Amino acid sequence: MSNRRVVRKLTLQISAICLGLGGLLPLSYAAKQVPVQAPSVQDTQQNLIARGQYLAIAADCAACHTDPGTQQPFAGGYAIHSPMGVIYSTNITPSKQFGIGTYSEQQFEQAVRHGIRADGSHLYPAMPYASYAGLTDDDVHALYSYFMQNVTPVDTHNKTTALSFPFNIRQMMWGWNLLFLKSGSYQNDPSQSAEWNRGKYLVDNLEHCGECHSPRNMMMAQKQGNDALSGAALGSWYAPNLTSDKLSGLGSWSREQLAQYLQTGDVPGKAQAAGPMAEAVTNSLQHLHDDDIEAIITYLQSLPAVAHPQQSKPTGDFGQASNVDTDVRGTAPMGIGLSQEMSGKALYDSACASCHQPDGQGTADHFYPSLSHNTATGGNTPNNLISAILFGVQREVKGKAIFMPNFGPDSQVQALSDQQIASLSNYIFQQYGNPDLHVTPEQVTVLRQGGKQPLLARIAGPASIGGIVLVVLIVLIVVIRRARQKSRG
Ligand code: HEC
Ligand code: HEC
Ligand code: HEC
Repeated sequence: MSNRRVVRKLTLQISAICLGLGGLLPLSYAAKQVPVQAPSVQDTQQNLIARGQYLAIAADCAACHTDPGTQQPFAGGYAIHSPMGVIYSTNITPSKQFGIGTYSEQQFEQAVRHGIRADGSHLYPAMPYASYAGLTDDDVHALYSYFMQNVTPVDTHNKTTALSFPFNIRQMMWGWNLLFLKSGSYQNDPSQSAEWNRGKYLVDNLEHCGECHSPRNMMMAQKQGNDALSGAALGSWYAPNLTSDKLSGLGSWSREQLAQYLQTGDVPGKAQAAGPMAEAVTNSLQHLHDDDIEAIITYLQSLPAVAHPQQSKPTGDFGQASNVDTDVRGTAPMGIGLSQEMSGKALYDSACASCHQPDGQGTADHFYPSLSHNTATGGNTPNNLISAILFGVQREVKGKAIFMPNFGPDSQVQALSDQQIASLSNYIFQQYGNPDLHVTPEQVTVLRQGGKQPLLARIAGPASIGGIVLVVLIVLIVVIRRARQKSRG
């Protein structure tokens, strides 16, 4: 599962370089009116590589292209579990034999923006080329320079990706691209500020927030227009609504709260980042320059509100302090087999109260967060509470690790069953969160296995007739579209 991905954090050399260079400059230098000298070729090259490195961090290339087992940066082999099977990322170090060492800049551009490998084969959209399609030529050039000149080549074989039929036909992606891939790099909207445009470019293209936060259509392409970024199930997790709706979106968040969340993953009394969002904070967002964070916020706040009708209060506003009754306190200490029939209250007391406190309000220093006034318990889906229990929380911010143990099958603390997680979650929603939510053990089973399969995967299961029908359908849609485009001009 992607939430187990703990990619070694890249040391951010750019800031070190900037600080270092800044320190070397005598203070009087800036004040004096020195004539501007053209930078030497070497300086320009170094700036270009530093920019490429910053872009690689903003685009989070390392997160998917580094195997958490071997921890060799960009050497590939990281397994992405899709409903169609496991897709392995490939070696993008400049190794001539195993990586992209022989890629020309044009071939690199084709892979990153169009999803086409040097040998002409199609990449699966597990590589977010549909978002990177909007990268500017300058940014692709800087990325290429960084990968070719500053990334250490690693001679590691690629692992083979073998999806089930019909998804093993990579050529199918040709049709998908024709339908859904937008061509052309990001175009500034002159009616908006420079900050807004920078924010949109970061959100839609570099940081590819929509890959997780935008709902998808039946063909698994991101929905566009007003639906964009309005929240989506993501495997076992749920990536919440980022539009400006006051109840189900970010409308009740201040700019400061948003900045704090993106840079640290923790806003006490509001939300914590776990799972895939913890990875985005750990590997990418915390390293962004402050003005890029501000630009992201400016853009997010301009998104038209999309309301989820079931949401009756802001997601971060539910719940109050409520003590576990003394009758259950300490009746089932941790680590001793907890019975299946135990009440949610007793389970909470034995598995959670030691950190989140008997009243659910966490510790005074907020290190252990409150479970009320928390979007994981106040939204309109139980996914993030259940996933936090099943997979725990792991994040690294400014060199400090934030950790909650998991209560899944490989738990070091206590493996909880689907029945127990359902009882516990129902207790937490009643006491501290959105009391309208109700969880069944069957729902926990589905999330444990990685979430609901999209319709496309269900109808096109291994070698099913549905699969064949689907291929025919895709070809038909493509042919019809092409014919229409031709007849239009
Ligand atoms: C969300 C995960 C993810 C992110 C982020 C990501 N990639 Fe990929 N990338 C993949 C996967 C998976 C593949 C292989 C897909 C396949 O086999 O069809 C891939 C393939 C590639 C390839 C093709 C190499 C080859 O010959 O096989 C290149 C080049 C590449 N990525 C570059 C990048 C760069 C540069 C970035 C950052 C700007 C990046 N990727 C970010 C998942 C990712
Ligand atoms: C790899 C998938 C992924 C990417 C990329 C991603 N997010 Fe998230 N995001 C999530 C998930 C999942 C959550 C829920 C985390 C939790 O509650 O523990 C989340 C939570 C959030 C929240 C908190 C919302 C709430 O109601 O609690 C904000 C704000 C947010 N993301 C903004 C962003 C922005 C802005 C970007 C791009 C710069 C981004 N995310 C990129 C998956 C992702
Ligand atoms: C050993 C201490 C510890 C225990 C035990 C513990 N937690 Fe946590 N919990 C944490 C920490 C630390 C965080 C993350 C705080 C942060 O992100 O800053 C956290 C975060 C959470 C979150 C927010 C996650 C999100 O995605 O927004 C929820 C919900 C949660 N815990 C529920 C529980 C439940 C339910 C239990 C009992 C099954 C439990 N915790 C047991 C320490 C603990």
